[in-house]
Amino acid sequence: MNLLDLYCCQGGATKGYQDAGFIVTGVDIDPQPRYLETGAAFHQADAVQFVYDRLDWIRSTFGFIHASPPCQFDSDCQRIMDNEHPDLIGPTREALEVTGLPYVIENVRGALPKLKQPVELCGLMFGMTRTYRHRYFEAGGGWTLPQPEHPEHKVPQAKLGRPARNGEVIQAVGNFSGVGLVRADWGVGWMNRDGLREAIPPAYAQYIGERFRDHLDALRVAA
Ligand SMILES: C[S@@+](CC[C@H](N)C(=O)[O-])C[C@H]1O[C@@H](n2cnc3c(N)ncnc32)[C@H](O)[C@@H]1O
Repeated sequence: MNLLDLYCCQGGATKGYQDAGFIVTGVDIDPQPRYLETGAAFHQADAVQFVYDRLDWIRSTFGFIHASPPCQFDSDCQRIMDNEHPDLIGPTREALEVTGLPYVIENVRGALPKLKQPVELCGLMFGMTRTYRHRYFEAGGGWTLPQPEHPEHKVPQAKLGRPARNGEVIQAVGNFSGVGLVRADWGVGWMNRDGLREAIPPAYAQYIGERFRDHLDALRVAA
C-alpha cells in the first residue's frame, strides 16, 4: 500500500512505515537531502497546499496519510523564548478530512489539548534504552489506534544541556549531546542532529503501520 508522509523531514516516520511494508512518499517544505537515504519519493512543498492541489491523485494513489506538523508552536522551550511559529495542526486535520483517507497526526505533549483521543508512545514500548521520546498520535478517518501498555520509567533523564551520565536517558531536543547514541537507539544512521531532534523513532511508525494493517484485515474478515 502507498502511504503519504506529510512533514517528512529526514524520514523517521517514513523508515518505520517502510519497515511495516508500505511504499512511502514524503512531503516537506524544505529540501531534505538526507530523506533521500530512505529511498522514498520526495516532494518539496507546503504540506496543506500539496493536499489541496493534488486531491484526486492523493485519493487514487494512497491508502493512508501520516502528518507530523512542526511542533515548535507547542514546545515549552519555544513558548518561553516567545518565538513565532504557525499552528498547523488544525489546517492539517481539515485537509486530511477532505481526502477522506485514514490518517494519523503526530505531535508533542504541549499539543495534547488540540489532539483528539491521542495515543501516547514511548521508547520503552519498543525496546529503546537511551530515550523515552513521548509522542502523541491522533488516529482519524475511520480507524482507531490501540494504546500499548506504558512501562514504568526506571532510569532518570539527563538534564537538558548536559551529556547523559551513567546510562541516563537522553532528551534529544535542542543542541543535545549523544547523537551517535540516539542514532543507534532508533536505527537511523543517516540522520544528523537536526533530523533527530524533529523525528519520531521509526519503531513508532512501524507500530502504527502494523496496527493499520490489522484494522484492514479485520474489515476484510467482517466483509
Ligand atoms: C516534526 S518534523 C517531522 C519529523 C518527521 N515526522 C520524522 O519522523 O522524521 C516537521 C517538519 O515539517 C516541515 N515543515 C514545516 N512547515 C511545513 C509546511 N508548511 N509544509 C511542509 N513541511 C513543513 C519542517 O521542515 C520539518 O522537517
